[in-house]
Amino acid sequence: MASFDIIVLGGGPAGYTGAIRAAQLGLNTAIIDKREVLGGTCLNIGCIPSKALLLSSEHVHFAHHQAARHGLKFEQISVDLNQMMKRKEEVVRQLTQGLEFLMKKNKITRLFGVGQVVGPGKVVLAKRDGSQEELQAKHVVLATGSVPAELPNISIDREIVVTSDEALGFEKVPRDLLVIGAGAIGLELGSVWSRLGSNVTVIEFLPRIAATFDPDVTQALQKALEADGLKFHLDTSVTGVTVQKGSANVEALSKGQQKLEFAADKVLVAVGRRPFFDNAVANDLGLKVTKTGRVATDNSYRTSVPGLYAIGDIIEGPMLAHKGEDEGVACVERIAGKAGHVNYDAIPNIIYTNPEVAGVGLTEELAKKNGIAVKVGRFPFLANGRALANDQSQGFAKVLADPKTDRFLGAQIVGFGASELIAETVTVLEFGGSAEDLGRTVHAHPTMSEAVKEAALAVHNQAFSIPPR
Ligand code: NAI
Repeated sequence: MASFDIIVLGGGPAGYTGAIRAAQLGLNTAIIDKREVLGGTCLNIGCIPSKALLLSSEHVHFAHHQAARHGLKFEQISVDLNQMMKRKEEVVRQLTQGLEFLMKKNKITRLFGVGQVVGPGKVVLAKRDGSQEELQAKHVVLATGSVPAELPNISIDREIVVTSDEALGFEKVPRDLLVIGAGAIGLELGSVWSRLGSNVTVIEFLPRIAATFDPDVTQALQKALEADGLKFHLDTSVTGVTVQKGSANVEALSKGQQKLEFAADKVLVAVGRRPFFDNAVANDLGLKVTKTGRVATDNSYRTSVPGLYAIGDIIEGPMLAHKGEDEGVACVERIAGKAGHVNYDAIPNIIYTNPEVAGVGLTEELAKKNGIAVKVGRFPFLANGRALANDQSQGFAKVLADPKTDRFLGAQIVGFGASELIAETVTVLEFGGSAEDLGRTVHAHPTMSEAVKEAALAVHNQAFSIPPR
């Protein structure tokens, strides 16, 4: 029987990062995935392909709406969707092949098929050729990820009523796309297809879009997306979807009890994801789950089954690739007797629309709810030279600090490149720095990062490029 120090079940960001760290620590490691390639949802049907399409569609939007301002004229703009999808697939292929190469170079055994934990340290691998193999390991790490959540009253046929899996690869641009859910997936994929010519309507159950961010941030985002053609119905829930002759009829109810009806040729259900560990652990092992249906773990990622650990989307916390990656590292380090740790207060959250929104740490809304006093500094990109030169002056950066100690508590940025700009604020938060530390750090000029520095200075009303309050 093949025997390992660690078997990782699931080859997404949490699993493959954990496997690499285990190999770096000298542990004999195997990784199992049912896909032909590693990378999980993120690389294959999530983060990476969506970013490829976001960029391509942004170019289309530029050609249509911004190029003329720069003195560029295109006689005719046409979109070759097939080629756009090919480029997306090539990006995915490059990355997933890179992962297989990394497994080889780290001497990690790559196993193909579906694994099931049948006892402490015992895994049965159902291979693609129908055969089975029993494997043994001192430790097993479960990292089987998540799948799109479904709504009880809506059946997903994957043709007309689809999830993000299908919406990343439509063969033609839908004329009318109805999106259910104004979270990361709904807004990113809604943006892609809107830029490519779809009429996009987004229905959101809550009173605002991207509700994990502060209201001033989401208002700025909504305004920008509406200017680009997306339509929003907030405080509205979908009551039913009927599909007939290749199109859908969507019925919804607003908070004011107003009945709404929409016709659409595609309906994207983007109402969150659910943890996926169906059949990954034999029933008789009595794996404990939390109230929210995730795998229950302790601080060292140990589950209720001896020798079995769990990381990533299947355990509590935001379903984000980078959270899973860091859990992979911390879990394996704990197994190896080291002090691996994830700072759950410093996990950035980003939506890659245009403008992008990014945040880390405390929000003003949460501070208010929990009675935490904060001082806020805000700086608009309109007052930043590079943003103007870049033709990207929408949005602002905001910094939250403790009024007494000036300790940096959080940041939110809505604007072009927010996904990259947020990184330095994560570092300040992680290092327990102050708003003043950030404000007194030299930032290159001209860069959009100066807006983040000035937001930190604005906490004490000391920004240079906006008038004092
Ligand atoms: P989400 O949780 O981000 O957003 C779902 C939205 O749907 C919420 O605003 C919710 O209020 C709304 N909703 C729920 N039920 C509804 C209903 N019946 N009618 C109307 N609206 C309803 O989930 P999403 O966008 O599907 O993403 C899934 C997961 O994947 C999330 O955990 C997200 O963080 C992650 N993800 C992250 C990305 C990123 O980091 N940029 C990109 C894509 C996904």
